[in-house]
Amino acid sequence: MTEGAAALLRWYVEQGVDEAVGEEPIDRFAAPAPVAAAAAAPATPVRAPTPLRTPSPATPPPPPRAPVPLESPQLVEDARALAERCTTLAELEAAVRGFEGCALKRTAKNTVFADGTPGAPVMIVGEAPGADEDRLGKPFVGVSGQLMDRMMAAIGLGRDGGFYITNILFWRPPGNRTPTTAEQGMCLAFTRRHIELARPKVLVLAGGVAVKAVLDTTEGITRLRGKWTSYTLSDGTAIPTMPTFHPAYLLRTPASKRQSWQDLLAIDKKLKELA
Ligand code: URA
Repeated sequence: MTEGAAALLRWYVEQGVDEAVGEEPIDRFAAPAPVAAAAAAPATPVRAPTPLRTPSPATPPPPPRAPVPLESPQLVEDARALAERCTTLAELEAAVRGFEGCALKRTAKNTVFADGTPGAPVMIVGEAPGADEDRLGKPFVGVSGQLMDRMMAAIGLGRDGGFYITNILFWRPPGNRTPTTAEQGMCLAFTRRHIELARPKVLVLAGGVAVKAVLDTTEGITRLRGKWTSYTLSDGTAIPTMPTFHPAYLLRTPASKRQSWQDLLAIDKKLKELA
């Protein structure tokens, strides 16, 4: 490896790039420049620069690349309108998989929609897919997901009928970077509809990011965990909601597992009351 290539690689790692998104490298200089989204087109049209390399006659030019969406609030509105039109979980899943407005989808390998049993008594909402979830296309399948499974099993709940699990974000942010407000807003529009359509008996919000987004609060997880609150559906139904620590936090801070055990016992008690 040349010193230049090694320096570039070091820079990627420093920027949080920890995984290749494709098998083959892409020469971005040879591709036409991306065009801004039509929904939020700039006043002055952007002219694509002349490609540095002209494809040989034997090589057909690459197809035009999909437009790069801007951080437009309109895209959040589009996501909300699309989600509202979905009347089943299957329709919502198809809508999320087909949604091209969120830039996170460009770098993710898979759309990570949900796992477990739709219609199960408990719905868990986490933060975002990590590398394992991105690779397998399922939420909570890495080490923190395995801890989550063991915790739920301790109160007799498994993915096979006991709970349904998803995330606020349907695509892994590259290098696990913090998603932008618009990216979160777009995904949250779908997640709110997801909760409406799943109609769990109990909603569990795993970690501060899910708690802040779903409950629309600035209050931290340490203050909120272990206390029942409710999430109100559009028809006025209040779903008992338990904020709890994220399993990734528990892996870093095992002493907090004692508090999470209390949360699990509270969830178990609530389910028995509601049965
Ligand atoms: N952390 C999350 O919040 N969700 C996952 O799916 C995996 C890890």
